[in-house]
Amino acid sequence: MKQIGAGISITGSGSAAPAAVVDNHALSRIVETSDEWITTRTGIRCRRLASASESLTDTATAAAEKALAMAKIAPTDIDLIILATSTADDLFGSACQVQARLGASQAVAFDLTAACSGFVFGLVTAAQFIRTGTYQNILLIGADILSRWVNWSDRRTCVLFGDGAGAVVLQASKRDHLLGFELRSDGTQNSCLQLPYQSQPQELIDGIAIAKGYYHSITMNGQEVYKFAVKKVPEVIEKALYRANLTVEAVDWLLLHQANQRILDAVGERLKIPPEKIISNLANYGNTSAASIPIALDEAVRVGKIKPGNVIVTSGFGAGLTWGAAIFEWGN
Ligand code: UT7
Repeated sequence: MKQIGAGISITGSGSAAPAAVVDNHALSRIVETSDEWITTRTGIRCRRLASASESLTDTATAAAEKALAMAKIAPTDIDLIILATSTADDLFGSACQVQARLGASQAVAFDLTAACSGFVFGLVTAAQFIRTGTYQNILLIGADILSRWVNWSDRRTCVLFGDGAGAVVLQASKRDHLLGFELRSDGTQNSCLQLPYQSQPQELIDGIAIAKGYYHSITMNGQEVYKFAVKKVPEVIEKALYRANLTVEAVDWLLLHQANQRILDAVGERLKIPPEKIISNLANYGNTSAASIPIALDEAVRVGKIKPGNVIVTSGFGAGLTWGAAIFEWGN
């Protein structure tokens, strides 16, 4: 029986990452960098990189299975799967492959692309389907294998990224645990962070030339993205708090996209959220794009740091440019 105007609970989380661990010292063998530079400028110490035989579908499915187990629901109970990713195995999307691997035969599945904001955008998208009473059980996965798209001779970007996946289960519930959100985009700043299609005209028939090319690799103006994040993330969080009718004192955990420890610290300082409330695991994973928030969430839940009823402020930011914040209570 479908409920109209149902609330949302986040009832399970899971995460997965490739086995290969690459530390900063190893990277200093392929580009002119050092553990000291990477650690002091970013806080990153190592990252997990997918092997040639590991697909995005593999990692996303592994994270999803753990989230379903924690939520204690069967794959056949899932109504919708949203896969937030910018690095699908197939340009047509990978969500349906994840659906098939899980055996989620009743679910509709699609990909959502909003780069490092993908998990937050996906959370809000999923919530709309529950609030309208359309779906009861939704699996949201954030997964990326950016190592496929990094230029491994560009030290400005290659030291930053890692691969992985995180997932959550959202379920309809009497009380709404999504307390507030705000999403933003600004395409005028698109060139700050891109992975563009590059092509040459190829004459097909007289007078008709189609574009034939390929996606190259990630380019980023790090300083511009840094300034954007430190300014816009506190603003969007304040807006989401306002919409939730909450003040910053009500926040138990600040869970930002894990891009750079300096960004986490600066946002915490601006919002006057003390360091002990800031969740950070980027030292071990680097920036895993759409996966970074759900991986950090899952780790904090599993070690008992995040407890049922805790108020979490989460914010993603990145290419687009896109950014957004969501405030939710963990658990039923
Ligand atoms: O998920 C998407 C969101 N992305 C982000 O949030 C990234 C935001 N930006 C950042 O996190 C920082 O801007 C970076 C970590 C990317 C760079 O830190 P920075 O403090 O802004 O460094 P910078 O770009 O100003 O570079 C400083 C120096 C330069 O040398 P010169 O010109 O001063 O001689 C760079 O060439 O550091 C050099 N540099 C490096 N040196 C050693 C840049 N990358 C490296 C490197 N190793 N890997």
